[in-house]
Amino acid sequence: MEGGADTVKALVYNGPRDVAVSEVAEPRIERPADAVVQIIRTNICGSDLHMYEGRTDIEPGRVLGHENMGRVVEVGQAVEQVKVGDMVCLPFNIACGHCQNCERGHTNYCMVANPDPRVAGAAYGFAGMGPWNGGQAEYLLVPWADFNCLRLPDDAVEKQNDYVMVADIFPTGYHATEMAGVGPGDSVVIYGAGPVGLMAAYSSILKSASKVMVVDHSHPDRLGLAEKIGAIPIDDSTSSPVDQVLEQTGGVGADCGCECVGYQAHDPQGREHPNETLNELVRSVRFTGSIGTVGVYVPADPRGPDELARQGEVAFDFGLFWTKGQRMGTGQCPVKAYNRHLRDLIHLGKAKPSFIVSHELPLTDAPAGYQHFDARDNGWTKVVLAPAA
Ligand SMILES: NC(=O)c1ccc[n+]([C@@H]2O[C@H](COP(=O)([O-])OP(=O)(O)OC[C@H]3O[C@@H](n4cnc5c(N)ncnc54)[C@H](O)[C@@H]3O)[C@@H](O)[C@H]2O)c1
Ligand SMILES: [Zn+2]
Ligand SMILES: [Zn+2]
Repeated sequence: MEGGADTVKALVYNGPRDVAVSEVAEPRIERPADAVVQIIRTNICGSDLHMYEGRTDIEPGRVLGHENMGRVVEVGQAVEQVKVGDMVCLPFNIACGHCQNCERGHTNYCMVANPDPRVAGAAYGFAGMGPWNGGQAEYLLVPWADFNCLRLPDDAVEKQNDYVMVADIFPTGYHATEMAGVGPGDSVVIYGAGPVGLMAAYSSILKSASKVMVVDHSHPDRLGLAEKIGAIPIDDSTSSPVDQVLEQTGGVGADCGCECVGYQAHDPQGREHPNETLNELVRSVRFTGSIGTVGVYVPADPRGPDELARQGEVAFDFGLFWTKGQRMGTGQCPVKAYNRHLRDLIHLGKAKPSFIVSHELPLTDAPAGYQHFDARDNGWTKVVLAPAA
């Protein structure tokens, strides 16, 4: 690598609400299928906030960052497709490509990339998803590079803030709509107007949904972006979001529902209720409707608001869910199932997910970026870091 330095700058998790840009060991090819990527764009994600707030068991010293794109600077001997100089977007899931789950397309649950035999699924810089460092750094090690790199066309630099969304939130929002069965003419309710909820709304609109409703607290920036792309903003701090959705849908409920908040769902006053959005979805989606839950829930939450939450359990209205004959899909998004098509929509000018970007910061400003995005400060809708700037 340039200059042969043996350390690089990276954003390191030190403890709850304590992250810093530090020098870490330079990523080097360790196995023949590896590549090293110089990071050009890397985002801060709502998933990083669960870790930032100390609500996961991620260990101090780990480099965060799972939404990455950049330029390949080195490849191992077994890498055949990807070449030095290629611009690539990296799915946040790390997958081997040849285990039973990968072969079936479930790259979100690779059985090899996570060395813990009790857990399937791996990611860069992520609690419980293997030992891999993240890409909020100058350089990133990418294992099984041919399988994990999505090569980008010649507008990669010009559209870098669009393509970096293909690493996670654009496919994840799209996946929520797939699990919810969104198709042309459907009505859709989405809980959460963060980046993931906004991408679910955008995906629903790309799929020609007839009516897209996005529920959040009175965040004028986030609900404003929902409105700007043609969705109906629903502010749950004024009245029940369920009543507002029923009113919008002739009392029947939406055809499809997307959960884009997760286990730290809270009321407008900030009190956490991990079951809140799930139960509101059951009530605001019609009989026989489908729900796609991409918001993260965890098997144990030692700092959760009550005993049930601490055991990773949720008081879910299963009786009403069952009575309504609803279905629900859950889990991490299999990014590779969608990333080529979403890349091509961007390349052909049919999608522009960068509309959510509010801040583009050098890596050195990442700690301040975390602080503002975590506080959901007005105007901080999505932070993109530019380590190469
Ligand atoms: N499944 C996956 O593959 C995947 C991938 C990326 C992110 N995620 C998860 O998706 C979730 C959202 O991510 P994000 O980046 O948009 O996060 P975010 O924290 O920026 O946004 C969450 C939004 O939910 C809102 N909210 C909180 N409680 C609410 C409630 N009761 N009703 C309605 N809205 C409520 C918040 O005000 C906020 O605007 C997180 O849990 C994240 O970890 C999952
Ligand atoms: Zn993410
Ligand atoms: Zn695998």
